[in-house]
This record gives sequence, C-alpha cells and structure tokens, in this order.
Amino acid sequence: MNTTKLLPRVAIGAIIVFAGIQVVPYGRNHTNPPIVQEPAWNPPETRALAKRACFDCHSNETQWPWYSNIAPVSWLTERDTLTGRSKMNFSEWNRPQKKADDAVEEVQKGEMPLWFYTPIHPEAKLTPTEKEALIAGLRATIGQRGEKSSKESEEREH
Ligand code: HEC
Repeated sequence: MNTTKLLPRVAIGAIIVFAGIQVVPYGRNHTNPPIVQEPAWNPPETRALAKRACFDCHSNETQWPWYSNIAPVSWLTERDTLTGRSKMNFSEWNRPQKKADDAVEEVQKGEMPLWFYTPIHPEAKLTPTEKEALIAGLRATIGQRGEKSSKESEEREH
C-alpha cells in the first residue's frame, strides 16, 4: 500500500480510537468534596500562594479545566488529583496529614508543583520571592523544620 492510501486510514483509525476512549468512565469524577477544615495559615497570605500552586491537586477546591473532560487528559488529571489529595489535602486538615511534613522539602527541591503542571497553569509558577514566602509559610503552618536530611526522610518512608 502506498502512503497516500495509508495516511487517511491511520487518521481514521486515530479518530476512532480517540472517540472510543471518550466512553471510558474513568476520568469523569470531577467532584469536589466539601471543605471540612483548613490549616491555620501562618501568615494568612500563605493560603493564596498554596491555592495558586497546590490547591488543584491538594485540596477539595480543584478547578477542572475543559480539557480535563477529554480522554486521555481526563485520566491523568483525575489520577493526579485523587493521588495528590490522598497524600495531603489542605481541605481536610481535621484528618492526620502525615505527608504534609514533606511539603517544605518538595517545594524547596522543585518537585512540587509537578513539572508538567506549571507550563499549563502559569499562575502556579511562583517567582523566587513567592517561592521563599511559600516555603516559610508552609514551614510555619505545618510546623516542620524542612531541613531533614534525605537519609532521615528515606528512613521514614520505610
Ligand atoms: C498537578 C497536581 C499537583 C500539584 C499542582 C501539586 N501536587 Fe503535590 N502531589 C501530587 C501527586 C500526584 C503526588 C503523589 C505522587 C508524588 O509524590 O509524586 C503529590 C505528592 C505530594 C506530597 C507528598 C510527597 C510524599 O512524601 O509522598 C507533598 C508533601 C506535596 N505533594 C506537596 C505539594 C505542594 C506543597 C504543592 C504546591 C507547591 C503541590 N504538592 C502541588 C500532585 C500535585
């Protein structure tokens, strides 16, 4: 078969697959459970920074953009949000939030917010000053030192 015939078939095949994956039920759960309790933000401005950079995946105030309804992006956004919330949820501070102790370190090392998130969410990109303010605020709010050696945190993982 020559390419002039093959290309339209590949395109049609891709369209069929794309349409087919839209009926997969996973990725449609765009619920935001109630906000039960937030941490005592210290200073209060910390909340605005965390809202910009963390809340989509670590709170019950997730903003679900239009493309989060379209598979396969919907699968990724649902997975990241549900996993993120299960690790630490700023809207359910009434529950123990053990992983919160790692928050300062995650921001310091640039591991949070996740690398692919900031290019699509420019508001989550913090200036160096804002990042410092978030680190200081998280440290005060969560009440952890943030200077744990990686060895210590390794040990805590196991
Ligand atoms: C795009 C979604 C997303 C954003 C935005 C995001 N996170 Fe996460 N976060 C995750 C996911 C998914 C995990 C679990 C997987 C992992 O640890 O990489 C996680 C894990 C964590 C953990 C637990 C790490 C551990 O020890 O297991 C902490 C703490 C955390 N995030 C803090 C933050 C903070 C603070 C921000 C904002 C500066 C933030 N995250 C922004 C998705 C996100």
